[in-house]
Amino acid sequence: MNQERNRPSRPDRRIEEYCNASSRGKVFPRGLHPPISPGGKDPADHDLPTLEQIREAGVRIRPHIWLTPTVHVESAQLYLKMECWQRTGSFKVRGAFSKLLTLDREQLARGVVTASAGNHGIGVAEAARYLGVECHVFLPEGASAAKLTILRNLGAQLHIAGRDYDECEAEALRWAERTGVEFIHPFDDPAVISGQGTLALEMLEQIGPAEAVFVPIGGGGLIAGVSRVLHELRPEIQVIGAQPEACPAMLRSLEAGRVVETPCFDTIADGLAGRFVGERTLRACQLWVDEVMLVEESEIRRALRWLLDTLHVVVEGSAAVGVAAALRRPELRPAAVVLTGRNIDTRTLLNAVSTEE
Ligand SMILES: Cc1ncc(COP(=O)(O)O)c(C=O)c1O
Repeated sequence: MNQERNRPSRPDRRIEEYCNASSRGKVFPRGLHPPISPGGKDPADHDLPTLEQIREAGVRIRPHIWLTPTVHVESAQLYLKMECWQRTGSFKVRGAFSKLLTLDREQLARGVVTASAGNHGIGVAEAARYLGVECHVFLPEGASAAKLTILRNLGAQLHIAGRDYDECEAEALRWAERTGVEFIHPFDDPAVISGQGTLALEMLEQIGPAEAVFVPIGGGGLIAGVSRVLHELRPEIQVIGAQPEACPAMLRSLEAGRVVETPCFDTIADGLAGRFVGERTLRACQLWVDEVMLVEESEIRRALRWLLDTLHVVVEGSAAVGVAAALRRPELRPAAVVLTGRNIDTRTLLNAVSTEE
């Protein structure tokens, strides 16, 4: 195993920060975490993609995704990577194409199945439609109406199963095993992580110097890909993950040093609601993410309003989580935020932005 690769990039500063970390324990210096399992693990042991593999994914998916702009909000010194304007309404289509384009003919002929609260399912359904492949999407009860409509229009076969994402995933996995249809994991898959990482390659060409990049975390596939790219190409930029207070699975798993089941309560950030993160995505956060912040529901609503007031841009709650974190940390400027998606019900949006805090 190559110990050098596991070393923190700036050990002295990181250790000092670690010692000064707030009592809420939200600062995680890269590389100082206990290993997932005794003996330690090299990134390669967890199949984390290399920069080269992320670049290859970029070439693979290039004809199928849109190059999204990065908008510079000068007054706030923020760069916003507009994945809310991506095909299908979220970055998830990157990982979906990246994965499906690695399947062989026989796998594709059997079709694909996935479990998703929405955006990943939409991405997979879009990629499957393009490839002429049958697509089954398992969704938890209460999935967003906006996302259900999009999925239906894409011709996906929908299965409502389970009270939350994790129950729904268990059902989908059982079904995949029974039928032999390929299960497309929403975050803990190297090809999916590579696809999500491609947005960071694009973003780095679009932004100037930056102190930090803020990234919302659900299962952690997005931040795994983004942090890998930043670690390799711009290690001086801090990578800050953001989760709703209601669903802090990545933060709790980082604190525990292993994937731990974490209660998840109602949140407007429906794409970030899950009780588990992945083994790979946790490892990526341990290695390359500087900090994970928790934001309150009122801060997410405020961020939705801020985007409307400042830019007249609509995003979904999950995307606003990154903005909420950035607004709380004005000392980290200039900074970039990934606006991850726009698939929000009109009623949910209107309620959120009209609530007086
Ligand atoms: C809009 C949006 N943002 C962020 C995320 C988080 O992505 P990940 O699960 O890869 O952490 C999701 C996941 O579904 C999402 O839909």
